[in-house]
Amino acid sequence: MSSYAVTGSASGIGAAVTRRLRAAGHAVIEVDLHDADILADLGTPEGPSAAAAEVLERSGGVLDGAVLAAGIGPSPGPDRPRKIAQINQLGTVQLLTALRPALAASGDARAVVFGSNSASVTPGVPRRVIRALRAGEIDRAVRTLRLFGPVAPNIAYAASKIAVTDWARRAAVTPAWAGAGIRLNVLAPGPVRTPLLDEELANPAAARAFRAFPIPVGGVGDPGHLADWVMMMLSPAAAFLCGSVVVVDGGSEAWLRAGEW
Ligand code: NAI
Repeated sequence: MSSYAVTGSASGIGAAVTRRLRAAGHAVIEVDLHDADILADLGTPEGPSAAAAEVLERSGGVLDGAVLAAGIGPSPGPDRPRKIAQINQLGTVQLLTALRPALAASGDARAVVFGSNSASVTPGVPRRVIRALRAGEIDRAVRTLRLFGPVAPNIAYAASKIAVTDWARRAAVTPAWAGAGIRLNVLAPGPVRTPLLDEELANPAAARAFRAFPIPVGGVGDPGHLADWVMMMLSPAAAFLCGSVVVVDGGSEAWLRAGEW
C-alpha cells in the first residue's frame, strides 16, 4: 500500500483519481474545499501551507505521490482572473513545494500537476502576464488581464496553466526533485465532462465558442480516462518520465498545431 495526497478530490478528475487509488488498495489523503479529509482553500495565502501541514501530519512525513488536481475554470466574474491565478498556479506550487520533503522521503515518488491544453492552444496570452505570474506578482498580472474585458478569465486560465506547467518543468529536472527520486510531470487535459466544464459552458458566449472548438475524436473526455493516465504517471512506468507534459485531449492540440514543427 502506498500513500498519496490528492487535491480537488471532491469532484471531477480528482474524485476519479481518488476512487482509482483506493480501489488499488492505496491510502489517499484528500484535500478540497468540501467533502475531503482536509478542508482547505488553496486560493488563500495561508491555505496551501495549512493544508501541507495537515498532509504531513497524516502521512507521517512520507508520501509516495501527490496529485494536484484542484482548480477552477475560466467562467465569468469580476475577480475571477485573480482567483484563477491564486488557485491554479500559486496554490498548486506552494502546496507541492511544501510536500516535497515528504515525497523525497519515500525515495521513489511521483507528482502529477494539472495543466491544460489551453496552455498551448489559447492564442494571444501576453508574455508579461506569464512573467508576472511566474514572479508571484498577481496584482501586476491582474492589471494587464483587465485589458482583455470579457475574455480576461480565458486568458488568465491559459496563463495560469502555462505558468504552473513551466514551474513544474523547471523544478522537475533539478536535484531537489529528479535527484531526490521524485518524478514530477504535468497532465494537460482537453475538455472533460466535469462540473468545471459544465460551469464554463453555462456561459452562452463560451458555449458558442466551444461548439467551434475541434475535438477530432468526436466528443469531450471522461474523468475516468484522465484518472487512468494519472495512474500511469504514478506507476513504476513513470520512472523515466520527468518534466513531461502529457496532453490527453482527444486530438484538439494536434488539430490546431500540427505542422508547426
Ligand atoms: P472540478 O470542478 O470537477 O473539480 C475541481 C475540484 O477542485 C473541486 O472539487 C473543487 O472544490 C476543488 N477546488 C476548487 N478551488 C479550490 C480551492 N480554492 N481550494 C481547494 N480546492 C479547490 O474540475 P475538474 O474538471 O475535475 O478539474 C481538475 C483539474 O483539471 C483542474 O486543475 C482543471 O483546471 C484541469 N482541467 C480540466 C479540464 C476540463 O475540461 N474539465 C480541462 C483541462 C484541465
